[in-house]
Amino acid sequence: MNVLILGSGGREHALAHAVSKSKLLTSLCVIPGNPGIEDIAKCIDIDPLDNNLIKEFCAKEDIDLIIPGSEAFLENGIADTFTNTKVKVFGPTKQATLIESSKEYAKDLMKKYSIPTAKYKVFKDYHLAKDYVTEQGVPIVIKYDGLAAGKGVVVCTSFDEAYQTLENMLVDKTFGNNAVVIEECLEGPEFSFMTFVHNGIVIPMPLAQDHKRLLDNDLGPNTGGMGIYSRVPIIKEDVIEKSYNEIMVKTVNALIKENNSFTGFLYGGLMLTNNGPKVIEFNARFGDPETEVLLPNLETDILEIIFNLFNGIKTEVSWNRKFYIGVVLASKGYPTDYDKGYVIEGLNQLKDNVYHMGTKRIDGNIVTNGGRVLLVLGNGITLEQAQKDAYNNVNKIKCSNLIYRTDIGNNSLKG
Ligand code: AMP
Ligand code: GLY
Repeated sequence: MNVLILGSGGREHALAHAVSKSKLLTSLCVIPGNPGIEDIAKCIDIDPLDNNLIKEFCAKEDIDLIIPGSEAFLENGIADTFTNTKVKVFGPTKQATLIESSKEYAKDLMKKYSIPTAKYKVFKDYHLAKDYVTEQGVPIVIKYDGLAAGKGVVVCTSFDEAYQTLENMLVDKTFGNNAVVIEECLEGPEFSFMTFVHNGIVIPMPLAQDHKRLLDNDLGPNTGGMGIYSRVPIIKEDVIEKSYNEIMVKTVNALIKENNSFTGFLYGGLMLTNNGPKVIEFNARFGDPETEVLLPNLETDILEIIFNLFNGIKTEVSWNRKFYIGVVLASKGYPTDYDKGYVIEGLNQLKDNVYHMGTKRIDGNIVTNGGRVLLVLGNGITLEQAQKDAYNNVNKIKCSNLIYRTDIGNNSLKG
């Protein structure tokens, strides 16, 4: 099988690593890839958002399967581009991507099919939205219904903050002209539930738990994720089963009933509340950094899973029982302003235990080239051992401009 992965981050590095081990693989290309991926695949520097170029590339290289990394490719219609061609795309159509790209679509779908989620209402009018907040009270969650560079969700703890947020989103239109979804504020531990999906078949993966805040003890601003671990001992088997049946499978079936069948990685961002697991959000793609700690645990051939799905077969997937922890090394100043171009040393001591998130090769050196720069992995038969291994590996990286959290995994170790 000739495979093409689209993207350039740690998620795509981990995907490329898993695909590169497949017995079904003939050739692996990544557009555009990164310096870490160059060691295991052919990286091609063309625009991954130019579907015509991708089409030409696939014809020339006889590509059989495309695995898109980020939602940007899905929203840009990569799956639609190859409908009814011999190239399979393991990702949803633009319409099925609405489960991630439109909060209103996702919430309405959940309401219609009784999939557990926070109570909500959608508003375009500032005054009506403000009245609703006044009536509901705080804390309350306000979400802009569109792309907002990670700043579109505000958990408001005071009326002042809530009114100010509504003013920013609906009067000043900081992110654009879309509506806001106002949601009941849920409480409980969050976890990521990832699945492989095609034609109503839903294959679950182990759970992972992200650490969104910049600093130790969940302080500081929200980020794209500063660390992650998988498995999640505080979430027990009965909750996993309930989440699988009453959320993931139910959602996949709901999309089929809506004539909007989903193919690809369906990701549930879930919260375990006192009333059971509920949906915080869905993503239409593999999580980042979830992928980096899940795929090293996968014992079954990833291409076999995907190939079988396209043939209507649900593979018995096996995962090893190890714990994995990923610590993100980010540029000083992230998530706001940061400098790039700092030389990173020690990478060759880590082999498969590091994924490149934002790096660049300059004059034979690997240098920092993004907010989140590297994800360093550790594993072990206990979470504690995995944590020790991860930080031992982090210490092998030398760079004068990288910061990281020192408590990834602690919440489960304490719990
Ligand atoms: P989202 O982008 O929708 O995943 O939201 C980002 C973060 O905001 C989530 O990871 C949660 O920590 C928090 N959040 C979102 N919705 C809610 C909610 N209804 N109740 C409590 N926290 C929420
Ligand atoms: N880990 C969060 C995300 O992939 O959106």
